[in-house]
Amino acid sequence: MSASPRTLPQAVQELLPMTLPRLAEKKRRGEPIVMVTAYDYPSAQVAQAASVDVVLVGDSGAMTVLGYPSTVPVSTDEMLMLAAAVRRGLQTPLLVGDLPFGSYEASDEKAIATAQRFVKEAGCDAVKLERGGTSVQRARAIVEAGIPVMGHVGLTPQTATVLGGHRTQGRTAQRAHAVARDALALEEAGCFSIVFEAIPAAVAALVTEMLAIPVIGIGAGPATDGQVLVFHDLLGIYDGHVPRFVKRFADVKAQMVAGVAQYADEVRHGTFPGPEQCYSIDDEELRLFQQELRLFQEELRAAE
Ligand code: KIV
Repeated sequence: MSASPRTLPQAVQELLPMTLPRLAEKKRRGEPIVMVTAYDYPSAQVAQAASVDVVLVGDSGAMTVLGYPSTVPVSTDEMLMLAAAVRRGLQTPLLVGDLPFGSYEASDEKAIATAQRFVKEAGCDAVKLERGGTSVQRARAIVEAGIPVMGHVGLTPQTATVLGGHRTQGRTAQRAHAVARDALALEEAGCFSIVFEAIPAAVAALVTEMLAIPVIGIGAGPATDGQVLVFHDLLGIYDGHVPRFVKRFADVKAQMVAGVAQYADEVRHGTFPGPEQCYSIDDEELRLFQQELRLFQEELRAAE
């Protein structure tokens, strides 16, 4: 009799590809789900080596790696290039591609076509879209087309202007109810999971309990079924605004700046490259080469 994945030890489970049933099982068993964003081959390799469960190619990459002032301007083609690079660095985590602003809202057909590109061209396992409202129907259409969808409620950066800026959501009973309504509608539409961004921890706890699908929180407190952070925020690579919910687990940018500054210093002082970074040539071969070079120079002079 073969053992079911849920009975296998953690170390063995980490070698298995993450699947939707395994994610659902994690919620049922109360095992926290770990999600992180990645935007290129090296960040994907880091996520893989750290054994995270889910990797999101977030449209936050618009700001962290493409230098846009918000997530709004990033195009589908740009997101696909990032997602394809992440795919090449990833084996076991579930790979979710973020549908960028303007790539899914207009119609079900457009939403399905964009989602298909993330699967066919970038190798994503699933896609994510933001908001309730019309996005519920878009989510349903994509799921019916055979592509798993992750929802995203609370603070939805693509439409932050309508929300009055990048502000905490669900802080009144009425607004909290709206978050719950959106989340339940997305679950009913067939989403396999939902991100809760920037909502009070107590609201997130109550709504998480109402949902059968896993809830991944970012600024939503500890009671959600999992957590997600932006790669550049958690590692201290990104200098932009850092929200309250971010915890820095490293200061990689300072190390990168120190490394490049030392390289510049050593080049300028002639200490890099040193002998250990140089290739050698046999003494006799070098002597012959110098001889040939002299003859060649003489020929050139004679031809002038
Ligand atoms: O784009 C992103 O990084 C996200 C996460 C914050 C969930 O949507």
